[in-house]
Amino acid sequence: MKIGVFDSGLGGLVITKSFIDSLPEYDYLYYGDSAHLPYGDKTSGRILGYTLEAMRYMISRGCKIIIIACNTATSICLRYIQQRFIPEFAPDVKVLGVVIPTVEVAVENLSRTVGVVATNATVRSHIYRTELLKLNSQLQIVEIAAPELVPAIECNDFAAARDLVCQYAEQFTKCDSLILGCTHYPLLKDFFRAALPKVRIVSQDELMANKLKDYLRRHQEIETLLSRNGEREFSVSLLNKHSQQVALRLFPDIHLTKALLQRE
Ligand code: DGL
Repeated sequence: MKIGVFDSGLGGLVITKSFIDSLPEYDYLYYGDSAHLPYGDKTSGRILGYTLEAMRYMISRGCKIIIIACNTATSICLRYIQQRFIPEFAPDVKVLGVVIPTVEVAVENLSRTVGVVATNATVRSHIYRTELLKLNSQLQIVEIAAPELVPAIECNDFAAARDLVCQYAEQFTKCDSLILGCTHYPLLKDFFRAALPKVRIVSQDELMANKLKDYLRRHQEIETLLSRNGEREFSVSLLNKHSQQVALRLFPDIHLTKALLQRE
């Protein structure tokens, strides 16, 4: 019984690395739906369809707990998956997202203005605004979509990504904290920190491992079912010429495989 990490592409590898560094004993299955990336520019219906397909695949591969590392999929699908899909399809599997843990950390400091940089779909859902205001109704929130960043990262074009970050950063100079609300953006966190030295950058690779550790500690009924052979499998729905290079930035000996989904 593995820990599954799902993303629309390779960005979720950043969070997976933080899990593996902090909880190395467990077995992991990573699945990135790179064939359908970017989710952030798709309709909610399509994002839900792809995410459900990913959930079925990961459950069929023995995942007992699945972290949806994709902010877009979390924003659009998590509630449906937790409340409708899982109870019917796999009631013994747990599916968690990234938005609530991130918001909890973002409000820990005394912030008056919190920025959120994310995909079009995440910003359109206003999930960050909604969840932040639940924790602190006095907050000012600046939500900006940055759709060009993900394609630059997936093409391994970090020079272009750095220029884009500098442009987007101008809209967050008045924020106390900035949430990087997309799986891929932790790869750009140094650029954001350099462009916004006075802003606290909230990066999911720095918080999700603690949140998962805490969850497993509180849910022994799941933790005791997880296998501990240190196995890792990294799969994507489409391998392109850049995939391996981007993945190698995080795992020096990574071997990406093409996932065999039932639709094939
Ligand atoms: N994984 C997505 C997210 O975290 C970004 C990439 C995409 O648009 O699919 O929002």
